[in-house]
This record gives sequence, structure tokens and C-alpha cells, in this order.
Amino acid sequence: MSDIVNIIINGKEVEAIEGSVLIDYLFKENIDIPHFCYHPALGTDGNCRMCMVEIEGSKRPQISCDTPVKAGMVVRTQGENIEKVRRDILELELINHPVDCPTCDQAGECKLQDYYMEGGFYESRLEAENKNHAKKAVDLGKNVMLDQERCVLCTRCSRFTDEITHTNELGIFSRSDHSVISTFPGKELESDYSMNVVDLCPVGALTSKDFRFNQRVWFLETFEAICSGCSKGCNIYVDHKKEKYKDDQIFRFRPRENLDVNGYFICDDGRLSYKDENDKRISDAFISQEIVSTKEAVTNIANLLHTHSSDILLLVSPFLSNEELAMFKDYAKNNGAALSGYSPQYNDKTFADDMLRTSDRSPNRAGMKALGISEGKKQFEELLSQKKIVVIVENNYFEDKQDLLERKEVILLSSNDTTLVESANIVLPIASFLEKDGSYTNIDEVTQHIKSTMRKNAPAGTLISLWQEIESLSQEEA
Ligand code: SF4
Ligand code: SF4
Ligand code: FES
Repeated sequence: MSDIVNIIINGKEVEAIEGSVLIDYLFKENIDIPHFCYHPALGTDGNCRMCMVEIEGSKRPQISCDTPVKAGMVVRTQGENIEKVRRDILELELINHPVDCPTCDQAGECKLQDYYMEGGFYESRLEAENKNHAKKAVDLGKNVMLDQERCVLCTRCSRFTDEITHTNELGIFSRSDHSVISTFPGKELESDYSMNVVDLCPVGALTSKDFRFNQRVWFLETFEAICSGCSKGCNIYVDHKKEKYKDDQIFRFRPRENLDVNGYFICDDGRLSYKDENDKRISDAFISQEIVSTKEAVTNIANLLHTHSSDILLLVSPFLSNEELAMFKDYAKNNGAALSGYSPQYNDKTFADDMLRTSDRSPNRAGMKALGISEGKKQFEELLSQKKIVVIVENNYFEDKQDLLERKEVILLSSNDTTLVESANIVLPIASFLEKDGSYTNIDEVTQHIKSTMRKNAPAGTLISLWQEIESLSQEEA
């Protein structure tokens, strides 16, 4: 068993595990220790020398990412001497760097820019024409671009392809100050997790083809969410922005650390799935393919529920939150409606891998199961043959099976534009996955919450608020 010992960091006594890496305790103490090459998912490499600290009793400063904790250790990250050491190392890092922050996509979230501004290196001691130049826009594969001049050779990206994906696409080529990161001859960066190198890169050397030059990061707002691309429920940041005269738009998903779910990474498919949230939206309500107000659609659905509740099949889906599913379960129980969560269309065995991706491409099947909502085929088919009214809620099962709905009254509650919009009797648009609050239970039975800050009432309202309105109107009718 590891021993807990006391160490002193900048005069404060801190408990730490003997033998563990000192830099982790600097992070825990919210000390902004400069670092490029260390990353908790990749461990120590010790190549950038930026994380120097003073340790009492050591003749020279030590790199904190490769210093094991020892009982009684006294560590200083501040002071004239150690700050000068770090400043000199930073100046070396900057010797051949173009410092082209105004045109760099990483500006605003670049470690080198932060350190450079803190260090006050506004004037280089080296003329620009004397710097080494390297390639500026190298296409590394389907999702990632490289600017070799901006690279600080921290090797996080190549270690990611060696140690995490084991695809070994990246390496360092040439020597000394002509060293550059590149793909090996004949290889492209094309694993299903390739875009994680963009987040790992501490500078603007690796950028996402999808995001680059689309938006300045300081204009974006962020909230914490989970990805709905499969049942893993990877934790993400959603970066979005409302522009004048336009809807709030999502510009990117970024991975959010959660060691119980996804660690530090997400897959590229999940990362790029934000586009479905922006596109393919329904914004209008329809009755018999004519645009109507939300109020009119809500009232018509309430009338149907009032007169025919026992003739209704409610088809819900594992894209709904636990709270929404519980609401429909209660409704079905109290009003004699039939309820099914049949949704085999979200299963895709080709998507699964041994990292994060699962074959169930929906976020809350475990939640649906825990609530006891049946997904059985036989039960669903029986109910479908018996009931005259089908209320479909965020479930695209009938997308290519519309013939099964012939002679049925179809009510569609959906955030996404589907072909059913053209044939359903009533269509009611609802807020999408990331526009509402709710909890979801992933494949490992971890329940996670989303609290959204975007497009709160778009296009018509959240499913819960709309359904409550429908229910209370239908009771008034009674
Ligand atoms: S490209 Fe980025 S992550 Fe890769 S070595 Fe250079 S600075 Fe590090
Ligand atoms: S593994 Fe699944 S949940 Fe995670 S990012 Fe990919 S699609 Fe999304
Ligand atoms: S972060 Fe410690 S040497 Fe790079």
C-alpha cells in the first residue's frame, strides 16, 4: 500500500502519496505550473523542461513531472531564481516559433501564448528572417492539419498514437532544431480517435479541419454535457454561440475528463455529431402537412388524448432522458395508453471497438431498461396492430417503414426533421438533446446529468413542458 506523506509546496503543507508524480500535486493546489509534454493520460516524457521547480536540498532545479514525491520534501514554484530558469527555457522554446497568434486558430486557448504573454516576450532577440522555417499547412489525414513551425515538439501527439490508439502514425523526423512532427511515409492520421491530438496539442500546431477558422474561441459559450453518439455517454464540453439574427449554433464538442466514463478522450464520430444538432431541425408544427402554431398542435394532440387515450401506442426512445421516460411511463399507466421503447435501429455492431465506442448508438437504453419500459419486438408488433393512434417521440424506427403506419393516426414529437414529417397527421417540434436538462444512464450504469444553457425554448419548448401542457389541456377537456 502507498504511504501518505506530508510535503510543503510554496509554504503550504500538503498530503501526497509517496512516489507519485510531484506535478499532479501542483495541479491539485491550483498552481499554474507551465508544462507542455506532461499529460495525465500520457504520463511523463520530460522533454520540454518547462515544469521546473526548486526543491530544498537539490543543487539544481528539477522538472516536477519526473520528480517522485518524498516525505518532507519542500518545493517552491515561485521566486526570482526559479522563475528566471523557466523564463530562459521558454525563450528557447520561442526561438524558432513564428508567434503568429493573430492568424493562429489556437489563439485564446494556447499554452505557449499564455506563457509568452506572462513572460513579456514581446520583442524577440532573434530577427524573424533568422528563424528556421518549416511547413505551414500539412494535411495529416481526414480531420487534422499540422503547422510544423508552431510545434514545440512535446510529443504528446505521437505518444497518443503509440500508447493510446496503437496506430503509430506520427513521429519526429530530422534532427536538432530542424526536427519536425510528421506522419510516417505512406501513413495518414486516420484512426477513429484522431482528433484527440488537437486537444492534446498545447499550441496551434495541430488543428481540427472541421473547426479551424470557423470561430474565435473567446466568442464561444460553453456548457458541460454528454455525447449521444452511443451508449458510452462520453463527457463533453459544448461550445456554442448565438449570432445576431441566427439561431444559437454549436461549433464544436470537446472531450471532458471523467475517469469513470471516457477518461480524457472521445471518438471522432461523437465529436462531429454536433452537426446533427445544428442541421436537420424541425422548427414548425404541422397538422395534415399545413404549418400551424404550436398552440394549435398542442390542443389537437390534447383532444386526441382526451377521447382516445386507451387507443394510443406511445413509442418512446433511448434518446429521451430518464425524467422524460418516467413522465411517459406515468402517463401510460394513469391513462391506459400502451408504451413501448422498441428501437432496434440504433444497434450497429460495426461501430463498436475496444476503446470507447459501443454498438448501441443511443445514450439512454440502460435508463429505459431500469424504468421497465419494454423494447420487445413481439409486444411492440402486437400493440401496433391493436392501436389506432401512434404517438412517436424522438424515435426514427418508422423512417423507412412508413407502410406499417398506414391507416393509423400518427402524432410525431421530434426535434429532427425526418421523412415522417411529411406523412404524420400532427407534428410538434421539441427541443433537442442538448437544448434541455436531463439525466441519462450509460452502458456501464453510470447516470449523468446535462444542464443546458443553449436555445432553451427552441423551437417550441422542451418535451416535458409541452407534454405537461398537453396533459393538463386534455384533463380540462375531461
Ligand atoms: S504537434 Fe503539438 S502535440 Fe505534437 S509534438 Fe508538436 S506541439 Fe506537441
Ligand atoms: S464513444 Fe460514443 S459517446 Fe463517446 S464520443 Fe464516441 S459516439 Fe460519443
Ligand atoms: S512538462 Fe515536465 S518536462 Fe515537460
